[in-house]
Formats: sequence, structure tokens, C-alpha cells
Amino acid sequence: MHKIITLDEFVIQSQKSNPYATGELSSLLRDIGLASKIISRAVNKAGLVDIVGKAGQENASGETVQKLDVLADNVLISCLKNSGQCCGIASEENDDFVPISDEHSKNAKYVVLFDPLDGSSNIDVNVSIGTIFAIYRRTSHGEIELKDFTQKGHQQVAAGYVVYGSSTMMVYSTGNGVNGFTLDPSIGEFCLSHRDIKIPENGKIYSVNQANYAVFSEEIKNYVKHCMDKGFTMRYIGSMVADVHRTLIKGGIFFYPATSKSPKGKLRLLYECNPMAMLIEQAGGKATDGHQRIMDLEANELHQRTPVFLGSKNLVTKAEEFIQAHNSITS
Ligand code: AHG
Ligand code: MN
Ligand code: MN
Repeated sequence: MHKIITLDEFVIQSQKSNPYATGELSSLLRDIGLASKIISRAVNKAGLVDIVGKAGQENASGETVQKLDVLADNVLISCLKNSGQCCGIASEENDDFVPISDEHSKNAKYVVLFDPLDGSSNIDVNVSIGTIFAIYRRTSHGEIELKDFTQKGHQQVAAGYVVYGSSTMMVYSTGNGVNGFTLDPSIGEFCLSHRDIKIPENGKIYSVNQANYAVFSEEIKNYVKHCMDKGFTMRYIGSMVADVHRTLIKGGIFFYPATSKSPKGKLRLLYECNPMAMLIEQAGGKATDGHQRIMDLEANELHQRTPVFLGSKNLVTKAEEFIQAHNSITS
């Protein structure tokens, strides 16, 4: 039997290979792993417990909040508060950032942003959903400030997601490649299952909500037609985590462009696009808003949206050519 490497062991091994590591980030990653196991347990029995369905609330983006979103948000906040390694959090489900200022945490050096439950519309129909997180080193002194959370994506110290699918997997990067861990419920451990993930440079799968075709720009319509003419397969799950995970493993392109309905796109820069962009780039892929690298975009507010095109480098570059072709004609 080959050796099982748990997430905790892997994180500690990675820390040993980094002379500057002090163990705080390792501890934070393990705490996020713990929160993910608790959320996974709730997701796996969501249909049984009166936890499915609407919580009767709306979040900062004006979307109906499902009960599991609230549970996931509370579990992550609680685990991060107990961690002692995090001095502030920002979440899709909270309008403003939340300082963690108890004695245990106020001098911690990291802030964490997260989408506690991504793909909420899929909860009630048993389709894969996920959690997305981004970790930054705080830049402020004294009180936590908005600028600690609105740093550019390339300042991320670590980023990752958990996909609650046919199995529960955590995929993360601390800037030295991307590794995937599958939860073995029989031992309650995330075990290394996908070492050093690399995204294929090409792919034959495009992933977009084609129902929005009528409200796409001409350039996006032309790119979609290009994908169809090339004989690509279209796969769209409607959970960013699941669509990005498939893209990372099989190659292809995932995109949520600006539309006349959503002029800035739908997906949020800070806790959806930046963490995913770090993972895709670390795996050898590309992530842009059609013009600029996602991780170079300026953020001014927590729930800021951006168009996003990410995946196999050659496919994203081709999409940019279509998007920029119009600009070259009109400029
Ligand atoms: P969330 O559930 O966190 O609000 O995210 C949902 C997002 C993302 O997961 C997915 O890619 C996208 O919404 C799907 O949007 P459409 O249903 O408009 O295609
Ligand atoms: Mn989301
Ligand atoms: Mn969400």
C-alpha cells in the first residue's frame, strides 16, 4: 500500500522546505481544512436535515441566501476565530469585513476572504458546490482596514477551494504549484491524491452559461461560435468551483463575461476570481478579464465583480484575440 500523505503532513512538510515559514500559515490551512470537513458533513446530509432551502435572507450581492450558505459562513468564521492566525475575514455573506480582535488573534498576520458556499443554486438538486478562499498578509498596522482585503490578487499568500462533489476535495496553492487532497471519510482526513496539478495547454471544453447568448457582446458571440465551429464540447455546471475544477483537471476554458444584464460580469473578484486565478496560473494556465490579468486588477470594494476568462493558456489567449479584435477596429 503506498504511503498516505494527509493534508496536515503535507502542510508541515511544505513548511519545513520554506526557511522563512513560521508555521502560522500552515496552521491556518489546517484550520480551513477542519472547517471544510465540518461543511462537507453538513452538505452530505443536507437533504436529511431541515437545512435545505431558503434562509429568507439576501446577501451583499442581493442574492437569496440558502441555509447551507449561512452554516458554511458560520463554520468558517468560527474555525478562523479559534485559529489565532487570522486577524480579519471578509465573506460573500457579510456586507463588511469582520475584524477578529481578541487577544488570541489581534496580532495575527493573515486575513482570509472566502465564498463559504459557491454554487448555492445547486444545493437543493444535489449538484456539486464548493468553498473558495484567499489568504493575504495584512498590510495595515493597528486596526484592520479595508485595504488589507482589497490587495491585488498577485499578493495572495495562498488560495484554494473545496469541491463537495462525488468526493470532497481540497485544492490549494501557496505559490509553489497546486496540490489536491481527497477526503477519506473513513479516517476523516484529506489525503494527497493529485500532486502538482498542471492544466493542459489546450483543451476541447468550453464552459459558459450559453443561455446568456442574447445578451453577450458581438465579440463574445463570435468566440462562442468559434468554440462551436471547432467542435468543442460545452460543459456548464453552474458552480464556479466545479466548472473550474473540471477545467483545471481536463483543460478547456471557463468564462463568465460581461453581459448587458451584468455589465461587470457576475463573479466577484476578491473571493471567487482572484483565488481561482492563482490556482490556474500556478498550474500553468491563464486568467484574465479579457484584457488584463485577473491578479493585477485593482479592487475598491469587497464585492466588486469582474468578467473572467480562465483555463488552458492557448484557449484564453484565443478568447482575448476575439475580445480585442473589436477594440482594434474601433480604436
Ligand atoms: P454563489 O453561489 O457563491 O453566489 O456563486 C454562484 C456563481 C458561480 O458559482 C457560478 O459560476 C455562477 O454563479 C453561475 O451563474 P449563472 O447561474 O448566472 O450562470
Ligand atoms: Mn460563488
Ligand atoms: Mn456563495
